[in-house]
Amino acid sequence: MAGHRIAASILSADFARLGEEVEHVVRAGADFIHFDVMDRHYVPNLTFGPMVCEAIRPLTLAPIDVHLMVTPVDAMVADFARAGANLISFHPEAVDHVDRTIDLIHDCGCRAGLALNPATPLAWLDHVLGKIELVLVMTVNPGFGGQKFIRGSLAKIRDTRKRIEACNGDVLLEVDGGVTVDNIADIAAAGADTFVTGSALFKSADYGRTIGAMRARVAAAGMPGCGLIEAAS
Ligand code: DX5
Ligand code: ZN
Repeated sequence: MAGHRIAASILSADFARLGEEVEHVVRAGADFIHFDVMDRHYVPNLTFGPMVCEAIRPLTLAPIDVHLMVTPVDAMVADFARAGANLISFHPEAVDHVDRTIDLIHDCGCRAGLALNPATPLAWLDHVLGKIELVLVMTVNPGFGGQKFIRGSLAKIRDTRKRIEACNGDVLLEVDGGVTVDNIADIAAAGADTFVTGSALFKSADYGRTIGAMRARVAAAGMPGCGLIEAAS
């Protein structure tokens, strides 16, 4: 998948109007719906499950990018696949057998991603980078929206990009946590191609303007857009 993608994290959406919010951000230009699943076990927060994914599925053709911040993971995979997930990412520390969980996600018809916390080494990618479709680089500690981007993550994003190039796989490099209009150019220049944004988007007054500004900054950073007309910033 060439170009760049904006993944709207609905964790920061208005849950009282979740369906409208999903339709609104997709109309405003979001490419993915980023669906943060938290179980108050792997992370200190509790969000939503497969039933909510099933409820929003018919509202959009945009891929639903499920981020499992749960343990155990395997028991959740089939339910989210049935609920309409297109991509499923999980944290390697949350499973006993990373390779087996990746196979399970593929067997359920979804693309598989590995989510790496700020302190999680890239070595977890060593034996699986060739079989996954997404690396999710966490740039905050998982569990909450609205946190500050960890600036030291830029070096990790650069290293991840190098590893992806070396394995010349068709792997998305998604960055998740604290992404804003003001830092997205640096993140793109470091090598990210998919940008999760929650609070910076849903707390803004105009979703289309915010997404347009993000795309313009990515383009200005010398990275091609997603083939969409670069909206005015
Ligand atoms: C945090 C989640 C992120 C978060 C992003 O654990 O994985 O997806 O919702 O939200 P912002 O963009 O507000 O950091
Ligand atoms: Zn996430």
